[in-house]
Order: sequence, then C-alpha cells, then structure tokens
Amino acid sequence: MRVTSRLWAPHRAASPACCAYAGTAALTAALMALSALASAPALAQDAVAGEQVYVQCATCHSIDGTTRTGPTLKGVFGRKAGAVPGFRYSRAMQRANIVWDDKTLDAYLDRPQQQVPGNTMPFAGIADAKQRADLVAYLQTLR
Ligand code: HEC
Repeated sequence: MRVTSRLWAPHRAASPACCAYAGTAALTAALMALSALASAPALAQDAVAGEQVYVQCATCHSIDGTTRTGPTLKGVFGRKAGAVPGFRYSRAMQRANIVWDDKTLDAYLDRPQQQVPGNTMPFAGIADAKQRADLVAYLQTLR
C-alpha cells in the first residue's frame, strides 16, 4: 500500500507574471511579507491603496506600537476596543465592547460617533466605501 505525498507543490507559488508591474511590485511584496495574506494578492492590492488612505490617520495613530494623540493601530485587527495598555481612552471607547474586525472597523470608520457614541476621536469618518475597504485591508496587515 503506497500513499502519495505529492498532493501539493510548495515551490510553485511564485509566477514570473507577478513581475510585469515592476512599479508596484516592490511595495506589494513588502506588504505581503508583512501580512499573513500572501495567498490573497487581491487583498494585498487593496492594502496598497489603503496605505494611501491611512495618511489621514497617521498624525494620530502610529503603526509601530507608540502612542500619539490616538492609540497605536499596530495589531488593531482582532483586538478589543479600548485595549492598548497605557492609553487613556474615553469611557465610551472603554465600554464599547467591540472587537475590531472588518465589519466593526468599516462601521466605525464610516461614522465614528454613531458606532461608538461619545468617543473622543476627532475625526468625522470616511464616506467612500471603497476607501474604507482598502483602509481596513491595510489595517489588517499591521501586525
Ligand atoms: C486627530 C486625531 C485622530 C485621527 C485623525 C484619527 N484618529 Fe482614530 N483615534 C483617535 C483617538 C484620540 C482615539 C481614542 C478615542 C477614545 O478613546 O474615545 C482613536 C481611536 C481609534 C480606534 C479605536 C482604537 C482602539 O484601540 O480601540 C480606531 C480603530 C481608530 N481610531 C482608527 C482610526 C483610523 C483608521 C483613522 C484614519 C481614517 C483615524 N482613527 C483617525 C484620534 C484620531
């Protein structure tokens, strides 16, 4: 009785076609390395666009674990709201009882005050759904 162990080929992931767009290839590769999403190139492309949207957030939110006006967004995906140690959240955010995922982040970034009434983030929201989706894809890469 022989069982074949060649059900998948580990070295066939990289296709030469990936290098046709040299302009964005380096950034895409960097983001894919940062994320656990290497098998989802479409999502990585969204994340590249989302990094541009994030420019609006960067004055207040670091991606390296340090505190600015707002708590760091490093590791925000999957984290409970109001949970960065040492950051002084509003009571509203502390009591929000939300876990940040694609749905809750999308709703919060659409209308922060509606999703978490009384929170103290001085930001009105992003009306464009595509921009929010790209941004959330980018936030997901911040591990
Ligand atoms: C002018 C400063 C400022 C800007 C700009 C800003 N934020 Fe915030 N953000 C804050 C502050 C302050 C808080 C904490 C609010 C509270 O405690 O009520 C916060 C909280 C958050 C939280 C909850 C974090 C947690 O640990 O629970 C998320 C998520 C978030 N912001 C995402 C964003 C994103 C994404 C953008 C860009 C689209 C953005 N913010 C723009 C200041 C800002």
